[in-house]
Amino acid sequence: MCGIVGIIGKPNVEKELLKGLKKLEYRGYDSAGMAFLDKDGGLRILKETGKIVNLEEVVLAQDIESTVGIGHTRWATHGAPNRDNAHPHFTDKLALVHNGIIENYKELRVELSAKGYPFRSETDTEVIAWLVTDYLNQGLKEFNAVEKAVARLKGAYALAIIFNRCPDLIIGARQGSPLAIGYGEDAMYLGSDALALSSYTDTLCYLEEGDLFFMKKRGAKIKDKHGRWVARKIKTLDLAQADSDKGDFDHYMLKEIFEQTQTIKKTVDYVFDLKKKTPKDLKDILGFPAEIDFRSLKKITLVACGTSYYACCVAKYWIEHLAPISIEIDVASEFRYRTPFMEEGGLAVFISQSGETADTLAALRYCKKYGQKILSIVNVPESTIDRESDVSLFTQAGPEIGVASTKAFTNQLVILLWLAVKIAFEKNVLKEEKQDKLIQTLKDLPGLIEEGLQDSKKLEVIASKITHAKTALYLGRGISYPIAMEGALKLKEISYIHAEAYAAGEMKHGPIALVDESVPVVCFAPFNQLFEKTASNIEEIIARKANVILISDKEGLDAMGDKIENRIEIPKTNIFSEPFLTVLPAQIFAYYVAVLKENNVDQPRNLAKSVTVE
Ligand code: F6R
Repeated sequence: MCGIVGIIGKPNVEKELLKGLKKLEYRGYDSAGMAFLDKDGGLRILKETGKIVNLEEVVLAQDIESTVGIGHTRWATHGAPNRDNAHPHFTDKLALVHNGIIENYKELRVELSAKGYPFRSETDTEVIAWLVTDYLNQGLKEFNAVEKAVARLKGAYALAIIFNRCPDLIIGARQGSPLAIGYGEDAMYLGSDALALSSYTDTLCYLEEGDLFFMKKRGAKIKDKHGRWVARKIKTLDLAQADSDKGDFDHYMLKEIFEQTQTIKKTVDYVFDLKKKTPKDLKDILGFPAEIDFRSLKKITLVACGTSYYACCVAKYWIEHLAPISIEIDVASEFRYRTPFMEEGGLAVFISQSGETADTLAALRYCKKYGQKILSIVNVPESTIDRESDVSLFTQAGPEIGVASTKAFTNQLVILLWLAVKIAFEKNVLKEEKQDKLIQTLKDLPGLIEEGLQDSKKLEVIASKITHAKTALYLGRGISYPIAMEGALKLKEISYIHAEAYAAGEMKHGPIALVDESVPVVCFAPFNQLFEKTASNIEEIIARKANVILISDKEGLDAMGDKIENRIEIPKTNIFSEPFLTVLPAQIFAYYVAVLKENNVDQPRNLAKSVTVE
């Protein structure tokens, strides 16, 4: 949700800002802009609607000589995605970029408008620009003016501000939205995340909640929420981890789908440390920080949003299958507004690719308040969710740039499967044959994924038959039900075709009324103990002339015979490998539908990768 960058002390600042903004474009792409100080000390603002390339065209056509500037890529919250609402917002004294939402902006706007300040946009952000300006007009120095202004803001913000009379100064603040400071040689940087900073430096520090800072080209000073000057830990970033390009693929999404073989291997290695030892039994591989006592655990709560929530849904099947423990799952935006009962000492697990999702973070804080141990599964170390957790486990998916999540999901599943095994093992309910089966499944996963990615071209042919569809249904039973939900989400996100997932057995309770020859129905039905039941549901759909796309193994496809034309074969599965192997065709299928519709696959409309507003 919006990305910000700032640079001080670097020649050709405009080109450098563009580099950082390109890395942040996944956070929002409704508009982009930058502000910099001209060599004569004047503020210059350039903004364009749409993608960074539009801004780039304008910027490169200008004659700019500057070493200090700020930049922004926007995901619209308040106000349409037009040029007036694009950041930076500016006054006669300053220019400012903001990520987050100011909840009390209406009162502030009334107050500041009454003083005669001429608002130009519909955004919540502009009030910050005029509020700081008002304090400057009252005679306060820049830092004090910002300090006083942020003290009046309610909501979330990561801010960066430059001032027309200060050629060597950026002031900023962090509350509820992430921000990091990068250290260079005779230059300092600012970015919403490490990915943005990786264009400039490998040395950075993350700001904490409530931090206010100023930076000059030779360093930064940070004041914490208690008003004390503090030093935040400076870290070295693994630039290889942060860097990511499309390679030979047409889109990040396709690259990330095909990367799953390697990333899953990395995550399997991460959890089981398989590289260093060949496990003889689970005792060897279930090392875990001692903070969590699984033996006495009675309840586990899993919370996340979107695709990460569907990973929780899969985990529920695994944990229930393996261990006697009560398990609750919910989407974060609902969970925190219910009043779920949580006994002191329970375990709450939060799953997030970005580690910054505002709803998930709010649910985490809620659980903390009610005495839960917090375990997080995140893809971004040092993200806010990681830092606020008692224990974090890290998916080894590497940067996920495509807005539609693919590899993060399967990597989350690896850690969740391991967690299910861990709980069962600690509770002493895991039989030896099952232990062996589980170890084998995990070891086999990368190979199975590779096999599962073989048939991708066939999916392109099937995809070409549904590009005209207005709506699609996704059906699954058991552990394939959450995969139907994830498959439907992928299709709607990038193809803009309405897609709805149902538990296959629910069709007859209403949704079958939707079915006719115009509705593609994607069915996940591996040949397992639930197959016969799902097969009957599929027959009911065929009888209503729908276009069925069946994802199953050889036995399942053979059992359905030539009643079904659109068939995708996956390797033979068990309850542990099933979700990994069924989700791959769902990802590739959605990808091809979107490509054939000539949609922007990596940056679908209205979406952003990191959702830092509630
Ligand atoms: C879907 C997608 C989103 C995210 C959701 C949570 O493809 O990417 O639904 O899964 O916004 O994001 P994280 O996992 O970063 O908390």
